[in-house]
Amino acid sequence: MSKNKVQIFDTTLRDGEQVPGCKLNTEQKLVIAERLDVLGVDIIEAGFPISSPGDFKSVVEISKLVKNAIVCGLTRANEKDIDAAAKALEYAVKPRIHTGIGTSESHIKYKFKSTPEKIIQRAKGAVKYAKTFVEDIEFYAEDAGRTDNEFLARVCEEVIKSGATVLNIPDTTGYCLPEEYGAKMKYLKENVKGIENVILSCHCHNDLGMATANSIAGAQNGARQIECTINGIGERAGNTALEEVVMVMKQHPYLGLNTNINTKLLYSTSKMVQQHMGIVVQPNKAIIGDNAFAHSSGIHQDGVIKNRETYEIMDPEDVGVNESSIVLTARSGRAALAYRAKNLGYELTKIQLDTVYPVFLKYADVKKEVKNDDIHKILETSKVFINNVEA
Ligand code: KIV
Ligand code: ZN
Repeated sequence: MSKNKVQIFDTTLRDGEQVPGCKLNTEQKLVIAERLDVLGVDIIEAGFPISSPGDFKSVVEISKLVKNAIVCGLTRANEKDIDAAAKALEYAVKPRIHTGIGTSESHIKYKFKSTPEKIIQRAKGAVKYAKTFVEDIEFYAEDAGRTDNEFLARVCEEVIKSGATVLNIPDTTGYCLPEEYGAKMKYLKENVKGIENVILSCHCHNDLGMATANSIAGAQNGARQIECTINGIGERAGNTALEEVVMVMKQHPYLGLNTNINTKLLYSTSKMVQQHMGIVVQPNKAIIGDNAFAHSSGIHQDGVIKNRETYEIMDPEDVGVNESSIVLTARSGRAALAYRAKNLGYELTKIQLDTVYPVFLKYADVKKEVKNDDIHKILETSKVFINNVEA
């Protein structure tokens, strides 16, 4: 693997599906898993097999179906969970068991009522046990974002010795700042024996809206896997959005980080997941939201019509959106009206535009958005054009 390649670990079907009301049936999961494989994700987290018979079945069927990506199943650090995951992954061409335990002070004290030493023993035991089934073992240190770096480094070193191939450092509560999360990765890189033999992974939640920034900071500091979901869905405020981290790396080549993702499939994949999960993303969502390439103010529209790059930092076609849109509102100027009219076959002279524009503004003040039908009406009522023929 190239040292600049960042593996994309998609957890739409596990962490993403934990969203209330987003439950998918096996058929739907298979359709999404097939699409993720075509999209080019490196790892598909197919589910949490012990959690329900339905989830177990989904992991089995996804394992049979997926040909390219690694298929991964989640477990807690106990033998029953690991047995279930190993069984569910039996048919996978490239199986991975994802096991782990909470490592922060609050998880150790309140969730497990345990001690740091006992947590390390459980972590080692889980990795060793999982290793008896498959070679590829990812270990997660839950709430690593709030875990003391020295203790986290000890846990990491012990699980590497026990056979872990990937170390997941989740910011489970979405608390970290990018500098802090990046520094955590750097600390682990510099202080954990054997770290050069494993892949460090970012798993960031979005409680403070920093999941994408934190994941990129992690990658800039040596992580070579990012865990994310389509549309950023997931527990509470969600997970890192796949489309965002992938496009950040693509649009900033100086970072020297790249992925296998076919970005032209991002928009259609997002729509597919929205449809199956019944969650509609907000229009201003980065990359795939309905307004991500829509321009509505006169100043911006004028710039974009002259040259798209004045107000767009990426080509919509790169993410599978056909073209930028010029939305007509009361804030739109003459350039936008002329542009949209031209697309409908009306070539307006300056004098015609001067006649039509005040009529357009009256319409626009009443309507939120002036659509194609309205443009026809405006041109006809202002007697500049009748049925696309100059009056
Ligand atoms: O957020 C988290 O810590 C997780 C782990 C189970 C990997 O989802
Ligand atoms: Zn998570």
